[in-house]
Amino acid sequence: MEDAQKGPDHIAIIMDGNGRWAAARGLPRLFGHRAGAEAVRRTVEACCELGVKVLTLYAFSWENWDRPARETGELMELLDEFVRRELPTLHANHVRLRAIGRLETLPSGVLATLQRAMAETAGCDRMTLVLALSYGGRQEIVDATRRLATLVRQGRLDPAQIDETLFARHLYAADLPDPDLLIRTSGEQRLSNFLLWQSSYTEWYVTSKCWPDFSKEDLLDAIAAYERRERRFGKTMVRG
Ligand code: IPE
Ligand code: IPE
Ligand code: MG
Repeated sequence: MEDAQKGPDHIAIIMDGNGRWAAARGLPRLFGHRAGAEAVRRTVEACCELGVKVLTLYAFSWENWDRPARETGELMELLDEFVRRELPTLHANHVRLRAIGRLETLPSGVLATLQRAMAETAGCDRMTLVLALSYGGRQEIVDATRRLATLVRQGRLDPAQIDETLFARHLYAADLPDPDLLIRTSGEQRLSNFLLWQSSYTEWYVTSKCWPDFSKEDLLDAIAAYERRERRFGKTMVRG
């Protein structure tokens, strides 16, 4: 019998298809984003129950700022509302909230809500929920490079010391492991600037379902598919 590998410790999700979900129902895009927030709540709860250690959700990309101001405004309001509303549940379930991205570009009120939630859950250790906000993988790599260049200029770092390990230490959430499983909803087969550095050996799973329809069963299907895979990391086959 083929031996299944253990479940993923870190799941990352590109939550896509809110707009199409709403359009299919003749509703404005905002309704899709609202339904998407419900899917976030369900997914966080399911991951907690399943013993997932880290869940990273792509909630707003750097490029999403190029959408109409009305939509970005609504998304920011929804984010603020979601974090406020979910904070007691996150706390009760011992979920630590983190955020990655150019957070300084978020509206100040949203940033304050996030910072308060992150501070209040800092001691929680059952699961870490990472929200990628104003996030871009290329921007993250550029930001890390700037930090390293500053250290070199200050004479605190020799360029010869820069290797993959040291570089990774300057990314937004350097202490977290790379994702094991990356799920994208709504059928699109692209990374859209998500976790470029961290996903070099991550297993992919794409479902055609739009994000608001993503259920615990869909999550279990993705995990089951992951467990049937063999991760080789460039080596020869390890299973016979
Ligand atoms: C994902 O849904 C949510 C965000 C990107 C903020 P979309 O808004 O991209 O929905 P589609 O892809 O247009 O259907
Ligand atoms: C990726 O979805 C970003 C998020 C899910 C937050 P997009 O809808 O922005 O990606 P593209 O434009 O289809 O590549
Ligand atoms: Mg989309």
